[in-house]
Amino acid sequence: MTDRLTSLMARGAAFLGSETAIICGAMSWVSERHLVAAVSNAGGFGLIAYGAMTPALLDAEIAGTKALTDKPFGVNLITMHPQLFELIDVCRNHDVSHVVLAGGLPPRGSVEAIKANGAKVICFAPALSLAKKLHRSGVDALVIEGMEAGGHIGPVATGVLAQEILPTMALELPVFVAGGIGRGETIAAYLEMGAAGVQLGTRFACAAESIAHPNFKKAFFRASARDAVASVQIDPRLPVIPVRALKNAGTEAFTAKQREVAQLLDEGAVDMGEAQLQIEHYWAGALRRAVIDGDVEGGSVMAGQSVGMVTREEPVAEIIATLMAEARAALDRRAA
Ligand SMILES: Cc1cc2nc3c(=O)[nH]c(=O)nc-3n(C[C@H](O)[C@H](O)[C@H](O)COP(=O)(O)O)c2cc1C
Repeated sequence: MTDRLTSLMARGAAFLGSETAIICGAMSWVSERHLVAAVSNAGGFGLIAYGAMTPALLDAEIAGTKALTDKPFGVNLITMHPQLFELIDVCRNHDVSHVVLAGGLPPRGSVEAIKANGAKVICFAPALSLAKKLHRSGVDALVIEGMEAGGHIGPVATGVLAQEILPTMALELPVFVAGGIGRGETIAAYLEMGAAGVQLGTRFACAAESIAHPNFKKAFFRASARDAVASVQIDPRLPVIPVRALKNAGTEAFTAKQREVAQLLDEGAVDMGEAQLQIEHYWAGALRRAVIDGDVEGGSVMAGQSVGMVTREEPVAEIIATLMAEARAALDRRAA
């Protein structure tokens, strides 16, 4: 007999080709072959974080992931990458089944190029109007991500986005909810609201299979929700997408970096595009220092507000089993 959780997840799981409708969101430097394969092998859906990879590195990472799992997984690409179409070709060469386009609206032709390869396209919808636009442009599924999430964030809370977007858009295409999810009860709630599934990052970042440095993991285990703060924009002329990370010396260094880039902008030494690129490179480098080198003071320990619910290193399979058991118990209580 199919239980309620299985039937609520059926649409999302069928879309992903996985056992559960739980996606492990792409995390630069963290979501490489080991974590991605572990998630997909455990019945979730892993995503390779493209990060700052060249097409050749992405090619190797996909091949490495395939060597560790025969389950489906996806690739997350950043829309502003100058070699986006080459990266799409790399995905096609490997028959990657799902491509997520993150970091802004997909550039002209990118959705079509991915679909022409037979893959499914998933995009982030930061507002209802954009969700409708993305649906019209042929996107196969949406992720709505609230400001509780780790990494780059929008301004609106997950619960509000879910209420605004799910009632209409979930009728049209699968919608996955992300941001601030740490327990299964919340997964059950979003599924009941019409979500096809969920995407979690923070909860998986320190799994046993994650290659993140022990210092990075320790910082997560010690932190509480209020330690995961959003970066502040200091110059109105320099629009900076906020990043949620654990508060540390690196948070202060980012303020200084913004001042430096704003000055270059003032002096006409860089244009706005270059200024924003410098900021993005700063984040990629700072995240690498924390995740790979273990510099959790000077680097960027990106983490969502659910970090307080991450207290120890657990294998991915255990995390997914716990989330599913919590979701199932919540639904059973409602039915009783
Ligand atoms: C350390 C870290 C790095 C991340 N890097 C990326 C990234 O490179 N690209 C991306 O689309 N999202 C990135 N994210 C967001 C996750 O994919 C996911 O959507 C988010 O973590 C979900 O919210 P949660 O943190 O509340 O679970 C990152 C999140 C974390 C915690």
